Amino acid sequence: MKETITITTLVENSVHARGLQAEHGLSFHLQAGSRSLLFDTGQSDLFLRNARQLHINLAETEAIVLSHGHNDHSGGLRTARQTARRARLFLHRAALAPKFARNPDGSTRAIGMDASTAKEIESAPEEVVWTPKPVEIMEGIFVSGEIPRQTPFEDTGGPFYLDSAATQPDTLPDDQALFFDTANGLVVLLGCAHSGVINTLEYIRRLTNGRPIQALLGGMHLAAASHERMENTLAAFRRLGIRFLGPSHCTGFPAQAQLWNAFPGHCTTCAVGTTMRFLR
Ligand SMILES: [Fe+2]
Ligand SMILES: [Fe+2]
Repeated sequence: MKETITITTLVENSVHARGLQAEHGLSFHLQAGSRSLLFDTGQSDLFLRNARQLHINLAETEAIVLSHGHNDHSGGLRTARQTARRARLFLHRAALAPKFARNPDGSTRAIGMDASTAKEIESAPEEVVWTPKPVEIMEGIFVSGEIPRQTPFEDTGGPFYLDSAATQPDTLPDDQALFFDTANGLVVLLGCAHSGVINTLEYIRRLTNGRPIQALLGGMHLAAASHERMENTLAAFRRLGIRFLGPSHCTGFPAQAQLWNAFPGHCTTCAVGTTMRFLR
């Protein structure tokens, strides 16, 4: 029997609907029949307030999947765990590490998971599934685990560090994507795509014997992308023939504008409250 998977944006940087709010961050809710999961939790409890407005009950959520440890994705984690009491947490161990970003003036700011939440997770291993490798979260819905970085034009560096003195670069091995297959191809959800959006897609295609990609939604982290990287990324999207692109969150406005321009009729926003349905 065919099943509909419904994806609703609970947190994103933009909002177009009355009664909902936006923040810099990301959180998607995914409903497959009677089962549901949360992919990222935004930076506050906003995901929960928006879910209430949208009449989405998070109490029965079975899984909370974290794309990586940055606090615009993990900031709502404590609230999410308190709300979805039965949920197992799927994340890479590196998501718990302290994380910092270097500011243009050379100072740094903490951007990792709240330390007390990280401690709580460490002390409740029975509720956690570590994802260094791909894991099936629920029937046919997978998280990628660590993503190999092989695409030559994708510079996956950034002003990210594991210490406040900015001496140890954070390569973000915790970065992972969520995916599931449908009759029309894969649907892929990105957190920030710190591993590179094309690295992510190529890896997922390797894991799925080269299934086509129907939809790609989430943060593509292209705000600092060079002209060459952008051109190569657009060429790769063209080659992959992706039907729906939802560049959002940290994709960056110039990159979003280029994508909308390059793929007319194939782009959508993922503003808070957006609902998409996929048949599988
Ligand atoms: Fe982000
Ligand atoms: Fe991030």
